[in-house]
Amino acid sequence: MRHLMSPLDFSVEELDQLFDLANDIEANMEKYSRACHGKKLATCFYEPSTRTRLSFESAMLGLGGSVIGFSEASSSSASKGESVSDTIRVISCFADICAMRHPKEGAPKVAAERSSIPVINAGDGGHQHPTQTLTDLLTIRSLKGRLHHFTIGLCGDLKFGRTVHSLINALARYEGIKFIFISPRELMVPDYVTDMLKERNIPYEEVIRLESIMPQLDLLYMTRVQRERFFNEEDYVRLKDFYILDKAKMKLAGPDMLVLHPLPRVNEISVEVDDDPRAVYFKQVQYGVYVRMALILTLLNIRVDEREGEKICLT
Ligand code: CP
Repeated sequence: MRHLMSPLDFSVEELDQLFDLANDIEANMEKYSRACHGKKLATCFYEPSTRTRLSFESAMLGLGGSVIGFSEASSSSASKGESVSDTIRVISCFADICAMRHPKEGAPKVAAERSSIPVINAGDGGHQHPTQTLTDLLTIRSLKGRLHHFTIGLCGDLKFGRTVHSLINALARYEGIKFIFISPRELMVPDYVTDMLKERNIPYEEVIRLESIMPQLDLLYMTRVQRERFFNEEDYVRLKDFYILDKAKMKLAGPDMLVLHPLPRVNEISVEVDDDPRAVYFKQVQYGVYVRMALILTLLNIRVDEREGEKICLT
C-alpha cells in the first residue's frame, strides 16, 4: 500500500507514467467512467478548501466511485478531542482511500502510519501540498511539452506557501531549471529550501521587484499572501498587496510565458489579466481533476484495459 505525502514519494519515471495516464483520462473520460465502481473516497478536511476537496470528489465521481467526508474540523469528532490516528482507523472501516487536509504540518503522515487505506496529503499547514504540485507539473508538461530547461519565477508568499515548497522540491529534480524567488524580505523562501538548492548546485536568485525579471521568465507562479498563517493582522495588511500582476507588467513578459497560480487568488493577479492567453490558472484547475483521477487509480492499483475499457485490479 502506498500513500502520497510529498511529490518526492514518486520517482520522475513514476510521475511521467502518472501524467501519461492523466492525459489519457483527459482524452478518453468515458473509458474510465466505471473504473472505481464500488470504491469510496473519504475527504477529511480540517481546513477550508474549494479546489482540492471538490476536485478530489469530482475525480472520484468521474471514475464511477462514491465520496464521503467532512469539510471542517468542527463538524467531525475532532471537535470532541478525537486524534487524527483514531479518526483514520475509523475512516479505514468506511472508505478505500482518504484525502486529508490539516492545519498541522505532518498530520497526514501521522494518519498514514496508522491507516489501512492509502492516505493522500491534501495540504498540511505551511509544509507541503503534493497534489497541487502534481497539478502544476501536469499543466506545465501539457502546455509546454516538457518539464526541463525553464526559468521559473515564484512570486508572493514564499515563506508560508506550501504549494511553493512542494513545487520547488519537485522541479529541482529536472535538468536545466533556474529559480527566481520574488518576495518581500519578510516572506522569503525558507533557508531549508535554499540550502537544498545550494547543496545540489541548482541556480536560484532572490529579488524583490517583479518588473525587472519579467522578460527572463518562461513560467511565473503567482501566490497569495497566506493570511491564515500570519501571527498578526498588521503584518498581513502591510504585505498583502505587495505584488499585483496587471496588464502593464504582462507587457514586459515574453509571448510564451505562462502564468500559473494555485488559487484562491485575492488581489495578486488583476482580473484584467484573466483574458490573456498566457494566463493558465483556470486551465490548471481542470488539470487538477485529471491528475487526481490518475492518482486515485494508481494508489488503488486499478488499471483500465486499453481496448475494452474494462477495469483490471492489480492488487
Ligand atoms: N489550491 C488549493 O489548494 O485551493 P483550495 O485551498 O481551494 O483547495
